[in-house]
Amino acid sequence: MSLATITGAQALGDLRGCKLLFSGFHAPELGRIEEFRNAILTLGDDGTILSVEHDGDPEGAIPLPEGWVLIPGLVDLHVHAPQYAQLGTALDVPLEDWLQTYTFPLEARFADLDYAAEVYSALIDDMLALGTTTALHFATIHVPATQKLAEICLAKGQRALVGKVAMDDPAQCPPDYRDSTAQDAVEGTRAVIDHINGLPDNNGMVFPVITPRFVPSCTDACLEGLGKLATESGAHIQSHISESDWQHGYVKDRCGCSDAQAFERFGLLRDNAVFAHGTHLSDSDLDLMAQNGAAVAHCPLSNVYFSGAVFPLRKALERGLDVGFGSDVSGGPTASMWETARMGISASRIRESGVEAAQPVERRGSGDKHIDFREAFYIATRGGGAALGLPVGAFVQGMKFDAIAINTLEPAGTVRIWPEGKTEASNDLLLEKLLYTVSKPNIAGVWTDGMNRLQKKTGITAVYKASMTASISGIQF
Ligand code: GUN
Ligand code: FE
Repeated sequence: MSLATITGAQALGDLRGCKLLFSGFHAPELGRIEEFRNAILTLGDDGTILSVEHDGDPEGAIPLPEGWVLIPGLVDLHVHAPQYAQLGTALDVPLEDWLQTYTFPLEARFADLDYAAEVYSALIDDMLALGTTTALHFATIHVPATQKLAEICLAKGQRALVGKVAMDDPAQCPPDYRDSTAQDAVEGTRAVIDHINGLPDNNGMVFPVITPRFVPSCTDACLEGLGKLATESGAHIQSHISESDWQHGYVKDRCGCSDAQAFERFGLLRDNAVFAHGTHLSDSDLDLMAQNGAAVAHCPLSNVYFSGAVFPLRKALERGLDVGFGSDVSGGPTASMWETARMGISASRIRESGVEAAQPVERRGSGDKHIDFREAFYIATRGGGAALGLPVGAFVQGMKFDAIAINTLEPAGTVRIWPEGKTEASNDLLLEKLLYTVSKPNIAGVWTDGMNRLQKKTGITAVYKASMTASISGIQF
């Protein structure tokens, strides 16, 4: 069948080995936006980008439909996949109570593999539909359910890093939800690493992650064992760092140092290690992280509920730290990186200006310059890719074609472009408008490795319906 005889929608399903005629944007570096107008992108047979040409030959290229804008897929650097089951609830208490009251009991349910598969499938479908093509996931302590999450990501085509949560300290973890020993935590982690690395047809789509939950939930022996495993396996690392007054203080009391220093001591502060929150990191902690090549998952929405402070994003960027955004499902009540990025801009403005009108303007805020939509766009795409050391997040030769198409003409969407937004001079404004106004109906295509992964949902599953009905009739969420 020649290209001319395939409909646009069919042709856009699998772009491997094709040439694409498109318009769009990317941010290959912080602060630099590049616009493409009727450009030509050529993909290799494995979905890698072979070339991107502003004035390429359109002969034989598949055109994106009118009104579609192509951007790199969004990267979510911090997701608690099991917590999707409580998204939008349970945000009425501080972190330390939230963990014990709501979150550990919920995560304990993931011993049930059917329940895990149900929640994880819904999450990955929903994230892809929102344009999140890469995600760094915490699973639970359970090896089989963690392996299931990795298999679901692979089957659905989300580029994903998946970690079995390690938590073994009886002082902070309940008896029915913890690794029974440090050795169990390390061996369970090793089993998941081996499983993910051995998955058939896993060509750079799903990766294992060493995942100490946070210092308070892990014994020294556990952290030490995971540090050794990190050196041995070369796997990615993720954890929480200096998230709240309570958490930061707990580590100071127990270890006599900051979180960043403790992670360094255990061999866990290094390249391809991503730490969430960091609202209470000192300047010297930020320096230590930068020197060690560690990255931050900035979770601006979750921080409102749990952190009691705003992450010093500008300071981190000025030190050259890799920073991406994290939804922190369900500490942040959305899986949308659009909403997360918008909150990232808002949080930076609040940090700059301060909050108390009774204070004189010059003493009211931190003085750290806010980020704008261009920097937020970078952080949501290439910033996340760079933090993970993965070739994603920009339209650059050698990177993976992980991309999303925004249909700006979708009537059910929330993007409304009036003629003044379309003028030659103001195309930067188009990116700004997209960043602020896109919603799920606008997302018309979601590719990883050149294959379209967007499943338009036609119904809900029987298990979901049964559990929703039971919850609503019993009014228990
Ligand atoms: N610290 C330890 N566990 C968690 C978690 O699940 N969410 C958040 N936000 N912080 C944590
Ligand atoms: Fe978290």
